[in-house]
Amino acid sequence: MADEFSVWLDELKRRVNIVDVASSYNIALNRKSGKYWACCPFHHEKTPSFTLDDTSNMYYCFGCHKGGDVINFVMEIDHTDFMGAINILATKAGMSVPQFRSSGDKAALSKRHRDRLYSLMRDCASYYHKCLMSDKGKRARAYLSGRGISERTIKVFGLGYCHGYDDSIAHLTSLGYGKDEMIEVGIAGENRGGGIYDVQADRLIVPIINNMRQVIAFGGRVLDKDKQPKYRNTKETVLFDKSKELFGLHTVKKAMIEEAVDSIIMVEGYMDVISLYQAGIGNCLASMGTALTEMQARLLKRYADKVYISYDGDSAGQKATMRGLDILYGEGLNVRVVSVPDGKDPDEYVRDFGKKGYMDLLASAKPLFEYKLDKLAEEFDMSVPEDRGAYAVKAVDVLRALKNPAQVDVYIDYISAISDIAKPVLVRQYESGNTAGAVVSEPVIMGGKKSGKIFKAIRFMLYALYAGVEGIDKSDLSAYITDRDLRAIYDEYRRISALGEATLDDLQSLSDVNHEVKEIFAEGKIVAEEAAAGYYADCYKSVLKEYRKREMSEFTKTIDGEGSGDGKAKLLAQYAELKFKNKRI
Ligand code: UTP
Ligand code: MN
Repeated sequence: MADEFSVWLDELKRRVNIVDVASSYNIALNRKSGKYWACCPFHHEKTPSFTLDDTSNMYYCFGCHKGGDVINFVMEIDHTDFMGAINILATKAGMSVPQFRSSGDKAALSKRHRDRLYSLMRDCASYYHKCLMSDKGKRARAYLSGRGISERTIKVFGLGYCHGYDDSIAHLTSLGYGKDEMIEVGIAGENRGGGIYDVQADRLIVPIINNMRQVIAFGGRVLDKDKQPKYRNTKETVLFDKSKELFGLHTVKKAMIEEAVDSIIMVEGYMDVISLYQAGIGNCLASMGTALTEMQARLLKRYADKVYISYDGDSAGQKATMRGLDILYGEGLNVRVVSVPDGKDPDEYVRDFGKKGYMDLLASAKPLFEYKLDKLAEEFDMSVPEDRGAYAVKAVDVLRALKNPAQVDVYIDYISAISDIAKPVLVRQYESGNTAGAVVSEPVIMGGKKSGKIFKAIRFMLYALYAGVEGIDKSDLSAYITDRDLRAIYDEYRRISALGEATLDDLQSLSDVNHEVKEIFAEGKIVAEEAAAGYYADCYKSVLKEYRKREMSEFTKTIDGEGSGDGKAKLLAQYAELKFKNKRI
């Protein structure tokens, strides 16, 4: 078998010339010193460093160092795998790919059957297109021009019009296709009498073309506003599994070659892809009305590592959509979220503000996790301490999905800035693994037992703050007070002193709801007034020392857990900084 296949493969390679193949992808070639030169289709450049050699049938780029034979070339330029490339080349060479499965006959038969269904779809698409361009398509053409779609764009996307229930059926029948085939690919529906009709009657047709340039389905849009559904898509068939497909692959391929773009823009609608393309932004794909799947993510990843999500208004934030974005991130894509203002969709936006306007939006896209944290923050009122805390817990939870520790560090800073909660507290929250759903356990973290030295120190400090002792360092203590009751008392102090001056009466008024108040008064009484400021400073020092000690030991654990490389280097640098700070206490 293997031998047979390699004989066939050699024959294929002999029959296809890399120069012809490259030309068929619109690569402009110049002949110079025995080679063909062009600007590299795989990276952006202004002077040609991409070469083709038609004797060895190989390509090589002196700029990006990509190279290989004609099969590699097609794999690369068509973003497909080995078998995909072979199929494309075989079609060009007029050879049929041999089937080497054990169930050879069956596979060959089903291949023949599928090929026939593909040609049925293609014939149907060209009929729709012809119809759109003919008298019958007047109304649909008027609709498109009303939306600013040019004739060239109509051609590039192969847009069409389905005139009535019967025209296309009659045409396809005249070409020799049978009723069952038309039903199988989802073009036709069957009525009770056993007759068939075109399910897309009176709709504008958007062909869905896969990465092999085969027509696999149609999206049909109504021309009248009040008709439902707005789009009717071909049902799932042997050719069309919508969870695996994306709309716009053939134009994306073009953009990748012609504009050397390195990212994909995911939009929601067919018309968004079409309209952006027309505005000169060709690297757009649409999922077809569903949240993204793993299969789509993998397909996407063949084209680029970076993906912008540019959904209508706020719909990126919806739960199902968010899951889709997580899937993209999970596949290793660099995900950014674009917010289109005023509830517009990308089509409307680019028509109003042009390519430049839309590119500016892209430039302001937020990385996925920043978007998530901002979105989450909208659910909370950051002027309320409880809300800030609740936000922080949930926000830290969001970070657990991050794969890179250096990023966790960056985003903890970000959460700290939004919630005004000190970074070390957040780090501890992150490392404790407490999730937002879990019941917060009795937070006796610092100082061990409640009767411990640190607890006493913090109680005294709180007393001194409420008592208004003069000459004390009033820096933020949030990071050090992790006990829930003491923290509530401290937060209350901060709230009151932001408005005016806190007093011991304010502290007293908390005694009904907070049993720590009694302890704090007891602690406060043990020190004479004139010694209070000095004692406060001592307490502060002990608290800080204890805190640093814990931070260091946590840190050591983290560093040990880190392999090597950038992450570790960064942690070590932070460790050194901490150590330096500790010395100064
Ligand atoms: P949109 O309504 O955003 O699509 O739906 P659009 O392309 O922007 O539509 P118009 O022409 O500008 O009004 C997003 C996508 O959801 C699917 C389609 O794939 C559509 O492109 N959809 C929407 C359906 O499948 N059926 C519907 O009834 C509506
Ligand atoms: Mn739209």
